[in-house]
Amino acid sequence: MERTIIETKNLTKIYNGKIRAVADLNLEIKEGEIYGLAGPNGAGKTTTINMLITRISPTGGTAIVGGYDITKNSLAVRRLIGVVPQDFTADEDLTGRENMMMVSQFYDVPKAKAQENAKTLLKLVDLEEAADRLVRTYSGGMRKRLELIIGLVHDPKILFLDEPTLGLDVQTRTQMWDYVKQIQSRLNVTIILTSHYLEEIDELAARVSIIDHGKVLITGSPAELKESLKGDIISLTLSDQKGADTMKTIQGVVEVTDMGSNSVRIKVVNADESLPKIINFISQHALSTTKLTVQKPTLDEVFLEYTGRTIREAEGGDDARKLAINMRRARQ
Ligand SMILES: Nc1ncnc2c1ncn2[C@@H]1O[C@H](COP(=O)(O)OP(=O)(O)OP(=O)(O)O)[C@@H](O)[C@H]1O
Ligand SMILES: [Mg+2]
Repeated sequence: MERTIIETKNLTKIYNGKIRAVADLNLEIKEGEIYGLAGPNGAGKTTTINMLITRISPTGGTAIVGGYDITKNSLAVRRLIGVVPQDFTADEDLTGRENMMMVSQFYDVPKAKAQENAKTLLKLVDLEEAADRLVRTYSGGMRKRLELIIGLVHDPKILFLDEPTLGLDVQTRTQMWDYVKQIQSRLNVTIILTSHYLEEIDELAARVSIIDHGKVLITGSPAELKESLKGDIISLTLSDQKGADTMKTIQGVVEVTDMGSNSVRIKVVNADESLPKIINFISQHALSTTKLTVQKPTLDEVFLEYTGRTIREAEGGDDARKLAINMRRARQ
């Protein structure tokens, strides 16, 4: 039986008596899973995380984190969790290792243990060689990797990652995914992840909640959410068009569109189930295919379905601008 490690109970945050950032939020996160929170700018992701890590107090409801109530036992919660915030926090005038040792001290990790943890973690994210260089000489990807392990110096059971790859280029981002997976499997930590990159959530999260206006719109595994759209697309090019129309009668077929040049686009509830039926149909009707592709909906399409916006439309500005702001903050 999977144990619940985080449970929010009508968690609510109203800023300044009027901005309802999080509204009666109910989430249940299982021990050891990577759980994604997706949503447009201002959806309430960071506010939710800030309450769960006891940086800010809820104005209503509560949450149980690792067995402790965030409103009653924040110190116990803090000992169990690690946090990698949206902005850079490492001190640029210290080395990677010095940053780790400094944060270990905040958590009262004994020095020998801290040194050992730093060594293991630096190795885990391939920063051994750069460990004793000043952080100001690090690339964006190296900084993010350092931030990731700084959140782990005190062996937390739960790790919060707020936009871990924001502003990184695609290649560096996919590298980060491997490190996050390694951390989850080797250190057996539960990870709560927010991201604007839905392919990141798709790749990493066992389950995801799409939130908007501080409320959960839908929760499930990425595969479940994609299946909920009932919109797999099978594209066929036939040797000739005759009979394509009658494909509508095949069980599970939602729509058949003639794309011209003997191509048809068939929308089905579930491609895994419909594909064999379509192939049987083709051979029974003495048709032959010259091309066949299957396309499943992406999480971006799920997002569009439930929020009514694409994630790019929902974003106020571009990632580069956000990164520039983060970098500037980090330098101050
Ligand atoms: N300290 C604050 N005071 C007042 N309003 C705030 C504060 N922090 C956040 N808000 C507002 O609360 C809402 C939720 O913001 P939050 O930062 O939690 O969203 P988010 O989902 O993390 O967004 P992003 O994708 O931009 O990081 C927004 O309307 C935001 O303007
Ligand atoms: Mg945020």
